[in-house]
Amino acid sequence: MTTDRSAGSASRRSGAGAGQAGRPPAPGDALAGYLAAVSVREDGLKLRLRNETRALGPQGQMILGAAQGALLGFLVGLTNARQVLEIGTFTGYSTLCMAEALPPGGHILACDVSEEWTAMARGYWHEAGVADRIELRLGPADATLQALPPDMAGGFDMAFVDADKTGYPAYLAACKRLLRPGGLAVFDNMFWGGSVADPSDTGAETAAIRQTLAMAAEDAELDHSMLAVGDGLLLVRKK
Ligand SMILES: C[S@@+](CC[C@H](N)C(=O)[O-])C[C@H]1O[C@@H](n2cnc3c(N)ncnc32)[C@H](O)[C@@H]1O
Repeated sequence: MTTDRSAGSASRRSGAGAGQAGRPPAPGDALAGYLAAVSVREDGLKLRLRNETRALGPQGQMILGAAQGALLGFLVGLTNARQVLEIGTFTGYSTLCMAEALPPGGHILACDVSEEWTAMARGYWHEAGVADRIELRLGPADATLQALPPDMAGGFDMAFVDADKTGYPAYLAACKRLLRPGGLAVFDNMFWGGSVADPSDTGAETAAIRQTLAMAAEDAELDHSMLAVGDGLLLVRKK
């Protein structure tokens, strides 16, 4: 099954994060050139995963940028995360970055609707030797999260959200329930290719992303910070 409710994000993803996903910086943009030159170097396995994913066609551009992937791994280490939730796995790049940063016994619950794309992911997780740290749940993430046993509430150290954008407000609410106090949620595509700053864009996905930021900002039980990395990363910490 290849049902991607966020397939439209492929073009958005490609419209941001230049220099992080192997594309040349804009001519004359010295800072972008510098960043590209000194930025993260992917290992051979991740580069192969990126190339195989890109070969899928336009949807392949949904793959996470290398700098964002490296940052996710860094955040796993920084937060001493052992239990991680991922919403939106695709071909498994972000999962791989986080799994490699986990300590022994660490675990990722990865949610996606696509059997086809996650089959590619599973192959790379095996090759990287981290497959035993990753539990894949196929199906709409909202149903997967609702079906988790009540005693898993507060049991996650970190979450990465990168699936259907209209689901983001509900995913933020779920993260608040599922993270431990001090836990961190990371939301990708918060700039939505710049659409969030265009008042004339009132599309459902843009509106949901704006709503998610407003929810994080207005909730006294949450801290948040927006990073201009790639297409925008929102960090939300449960107090
Ligand atoms: C932008 S891609 C994720 C990219 C991935 N994190 C990476 O590192 O390359 C979005 C993914 O969300 C999945 N998705 C879309 N709607 C979903 C839903 N309701 N529940 C779970 N996954 C969903 C799609 O199948 C797709 O694989």
